This record gives sequence, structure tokens and C-alpha cells, in this order.
Amino acid sequence: MVDALPTTPALPDRSVVPAVWSRITNLVVDHGEGAWLVTPEGDRFLDYTSGIGVTNTGHAHPHVVAAVQAQAAKLLHGQQNIVYHEPGLRLYERLAGLLPGGPWSAFLANSGAEAVEAAVKLARVATGRPAIIAFRYSFHGRTAQTMALTAAKDVYRAAFEPLPGSVYHAAYPYCYRASGGAHAPDEQCTCDWEAQLDLLFHQLVYPDRVAAIIVEPVIGEGGYIVPPPGFLPRLREITREHGILLIADEVQTGFGRTGELFAVRHWNVEPDILVMAKGIASGLPLSGILARRELMERFPPGSHGGTYGGNVVSCAAALATLDVIENEGLVANARERGRQLLDGLRAIARDRPAIGDVRGLGLMVAIELVKPGVGDGRTPDAALTKRIQQACFDRGLLLLTAGTDSNVIRIIAPLITTADEVDQALGIMAEALDVAGA
Ligand SMILES: Cc1ncc(COP(=O)(O)O)c(C=O)c1O
Repeated sequence: MVDALPTTPALPDRSVVPAVWSRITNLVVDHGEGAWLVTPEGDRFLDYTSGIGVTNTGHAHPHVVAAVQAQAAKLLHGQQNIVYHEPGLRLYERLAGLLPGGPWSAFLANSGAEAVEAAVKLARVATGRPAIIAFRYSFHGRTAQTMALTAAKDVYRAAFEPLPGSVYHAAYPYCYRASGGAHAPDEQCTCDWEAQLDLLFHQLVYPDRVAAIIVEPVIGEGGYIVPPPGFLPRLREITREHGILLIADEVQTGFGRTGELFAVRHWNVEPDILVMAKGIASGLPLSGILARRELMERFPPGSHGGTYGGNVVSCAAALATLDVIENEGLVANARERGRQLLDGLRAIARDRPAIGDVRGLGLMVAIELVKPGVGDGRTPDAALTKRIQQACFDRGLLLLTAGTDSNVIRIIAPLITTADEVDQALGIMAEALDVAGA
């Protein structure tokens, strides 16, 4: 009897993956190239999610892939409590040189949440103070501590109480909501975040008990909210007045996403600790913090760490990612393509009152969908948002939503995207808005 020819086993049913992974498509992808994801059947999708802001250098950038392949053939795991490895040493040094001021010292971990945990632990141990202030609309992760900091949406935390204490939430300046529908955050913003913070200090916690204020320079998951220009500089002044550390969570805004390597540079603000992940290694799991060296020196040996932190292959990918960002001018491209997207979306929004706001910084761009004629004209429209997202998908464009009310479409193009791809995306979005009834 002749043996049957070997066949590729059929793919397991998608139900093997638990529903806790909420998901925007049913796509199985085979590979990625640049801004595109490709299915086994050869269907191509313009990936303007960048895997939630991760693949800033695009999918499978050859320089990053080569670095990963070369490193994987040499060493997969060189544990940080046991040995040093060359990619790690080079990356620690390189990261410390990325931000002016300092001097800086880096710490490497795996995920964004883990890096936020490191920042909070360092802030507490370095100051000897217990409390942390985070902002409404913020997202910092899904571990217990980072859930406690998060205030973007109920689903991220409400079912998981009790959460770690000594966490307080301040008001974030959400200009569109506060200022009667201003289209761009500017000096006319009427947000009273500073008065609210003052009230928090008088009603809930003494400022000299606060170790740190953690802030997303541009709110991500909570709705792509760009603050008015004075916000971060004033927050820096207030934190200095009270000896409170300022933690910038740049997990989503970092590595060129906003048109600066780190978003705090837009306002020339120097945080005490900066948290990074996502775009750092083009998709391999890696995260870290940058802290002023004298703070990092107060982290007692052994009080923090982890088996996989600073994985050697991830470090090689991060070094190659930084090469690509620098050599291909990706930060400048984020600025230019971001401007193209914003201009295009503003033109599209002109005769569509359901687009309440168009906003963004660099390639962190969003539209907020509302119900014109209902209430004050800014009632969130989550159903319309979903229809637009679906209509874009049907036309080959992958987009994510965001916002407390799920009524924001965020456009997270990879930083390598071309002017032609941005035009394609704008064309698809205009058509999808028509189809969805916006
Ligand atoms: C600003 C911010 N902080 C922290 C996190 C958590 O990162 P991770 O999902 O890698 O744990 C995210 C993830 O979206 C984020 O956007």
C-alpha cells in the first residue's frame, strides 16, 4: 500500500482562541510586507492599525528581520540576572542617549504594562511616598496595578475590583468635549484640569504624599486626545513644586509615532521617568523605562526584574529598529504623512457633521463620530463608528476604534507609509463614510 502524500493539517477552528481576545476581524494572515498584511489566499489589507502602534517600521522590515535571524542563530536567551549580552549592552547605552537632559538610565522588560509597573515601583521606592495620580481617559495596561491606573473604559477594570489603592484620577484636558467642539486644541480650550488637580490635592491626597503623576502625552486608547499646548509644561511645573515625579507613558506615543522620537519633545518637557514599549522593537516583545540615573540608582538590587526582561533577540530587533527610524527619516515621514492625513480628513469632514472632531499629532490621528442634531451635537455615535470601521475593512483598510464611548476611529499608519498609501486610505475612508451613512 502506498502511503498517502503528506497533507497540511487543516487549521483548527477559530473557537480555540478564547473570546477574551476581543477582535476586530476574522482574518487569518500569512505574512506582512511594509504597510500591508496578506492572507494565505493573497488578499491584501492596508494595515493602519500597525498591530496597535507596534510595527512603526512596517511589517517584516528586511533590516530588522536580518538582525533577528542573525541573533536567533547565536543566542535566544541570555538571562539578565545571570549574564550580560552584547545587544543588551548596546541597547541600554543607546536608549540612554535618546532623550536630552538626564543623564538617563534604562531598564528593560517585556510589555508596556510591565514597564509601567516598573515606573510606579521606582517612583515609590525612590521618593518613599505611596500615592500615584493618573488621568481620566488614560490607559496603562491590564495588570492589577496598571488596571488601577487606567480610566479609559469600564471594561478594562470594573469587574476586577479590588484594585491596588493609593491611586487617584485627575481630569485630562479633552478640548473637544470641554470647549464646545473646538476642532483643534489651542489656547481657547476651557478645560479646568489645573483647578481639578488642585481640588484633588485639597480633598483626597496631600501633594507631599504623591510619588508620581503618570500621564500619556497624547491619550491613546482613551480616544487619541491631544492636550492643549500649555498642559504638559504646566504639569511639569506643578510636579516640581511638590517634589512629585512626572512619569510620561510613551508606550503608544513613542518611537516617532507623533512626529518626534518621543512626544514630550513637542513641548520640551523633561519627565523624570519615561515608559516605552510597542514601537521599540518592531513587534518583538520588549519594553522599558528611562529614568534619571540618580533615581534608577535608588532601585534596590533584586527588588525588580523578570525572567525574560531585555530578551536578547528583542534587543537585537530594537537596535535594528532604531537604525531604520534614523536612517530612513521615519520621524520626519510621520510628521509629513500625518499632516497629509489630517488635511485629507479635515476636507472629508467639511460636509459631514457626524465627524465632530478631527485631531492628531504626527501619525497618531483620529476622527470622533457624533450624532448631529441630538443634544448639544456631540453625543457619541458608537454604532456609526463600527459601521465605518466595517466598511473600511470590506474595502481592504484595517482601522481600530478608541475612546470611552467607542466613537473614535484612530488611524495608526506605520511610519514607513507612503503618500500614495495615505491617499488610498483617505479614498477608502471617504467611501466608507458614505456607505455607513455619515
Ligand atoms: C499608553 C499605554 N500604556 C500602556 C499600555 C500597555 O501595554 P501592553 O499592552 O504592552 O501591556 C498600552 C497599550 O495599549 C498603552 O497604549
